[in-house]
Amino acid sequence: MDNACRHDVRDISRNFQILGEFRSAMPWGSGHINDSYCALYSQAGVEVRYLVQRVNHTIFKNPVGLMQNVERVTAHLATKWADQPDASRRVLTLVPTRNGRCSFIDASGDHWRVYLFIEKARTYDVVESPGQAFQAGRAFGEFQALLADLPAPRLIDTIPDFHNTPKRFASFEIALAADVAGRARLAGPEIDFALSQKSLCKVLLEANLPARTTHNDTKFNNVLLDDQTGEGICVIDLDTVMPGLAPYDFGDLVRTTTSRASEDERDLSKVFFDFPLFESIARGYLSAAGGFITKAERQHLAVSGLLITFETGLRFLTDFLAGDAYFKVHRQGQNLDRCRTQFKLMGSMARQENSMRKLVEEIQ
Ligand SMILES: Nc1ncnc2c1ncn2[C@@H]1O[C@H](COP(=O)(O)OP(=O)(O)O)[C@@H](O)[C@H]1O
Ligand SMILES: [Mg+2]
Repeated sequence: MDNACRHDVRDISRNFQILGEFRSAMPWGSGHINDSYCALYSQAGVEVRYLVQRVNHTIFKNPVGLMQNVERVTAHLATKWADQPDASRRVLTLVPTRNGRCSFIDASGDHWRVYLFIEKARTYDVVESPGQAFQAGRAFGEFQALLADLPAPRLIDTIPDFHNTPKRFASFEIALAADVAGRARLAGPEIDFALSQKSLCKVLLEANLPARTTHNDTKFNNVLLDDQTGEGICVIDLDTVMPGLAPYDFGDLVRTTTSRASEDERDLSKVFFDFPLFESIARGYLSAAGGFITKAERQHLAVSGLLITFETGLRFLTDFLAGDAYFKVHRQGQNLDRCRTQFKLMGSMARQENSMRKLVEEIQ
């Protein structure tokens, strides 16, 4: 076993239809959810890389259903790209197991999958330019557009009620009433703010928007950007692809891309909404999705950033009150700090909401 790897990647990858000889493996990427490895094989004298990934089944309770979603979505996208140049860099390609399945279950019950490694492209944790923000917006818009005609049946919900903001609010109220860790007294202003925003929670769910196939984890680092052209070449991390509302995807990209401060920054003066980055995301997204989303969906793009930023802050606050049960903390009060950055960012967005609305209406 490779020392740096927490799993025996050589042994695991043996179960997949990979030709040639295993050379080495190393941990890969900065993702927090799955365990990802880059495995190097020699195939008739050429070195070929594969991305070997363990599905996190603590978070995803139905890994079999999840993999069925991934298989259907990647197959559908592949038909859209068939015969195009670079087709196999534009969609994730699953490598089947030796017995023709899309994932392998090891002796300890872990589910593993292998993708072709997309070369000459990489992800970035932080946006470096408006051009990159445009590309991420475009890539996620294109992803939704290409999946708009995914044939029935409905994909399974890999995390039920993932973006049900009223339910998130109800969980917050329960955690506040219980106050199991005795921390409510430490978060007075944040609790008051959260309570004052209750009516915002239902704004998307009550807008009669169509259910679509959405990504649901539209972070900037879930798009591979081409090294040469900078194009957003492939949307990755498909574990949460399921039926959802298009503006939630747009909103989460806005949340994670328009603030350059870290999620737990304590100096709140560093946390603000960067309007030019928003403009790039909106132009990119609408260049790909503008033709198929409805008027109502477009009208809810501006508020979606505020809503999802509020929802995220609320989840951090709920977890702070519950004694840090869900989000890992490395220091005391970290979840409250995370809540504060989200609420600060939301306030900064709210001051520019009208300009966001105007812009989104105007873009062709
Ligand atoms: N098919 C692929 N080819 C090349 N790199 C990949 C591929 N899939 C994922 N990666 C890299 O691995 C990292 C983690 O993968 P991801 O699926 O996003 O896992 P997580 O859910 O942990 O974020 C990504 O940020 C990306 O850099
Ligand atoms: Mg990821």
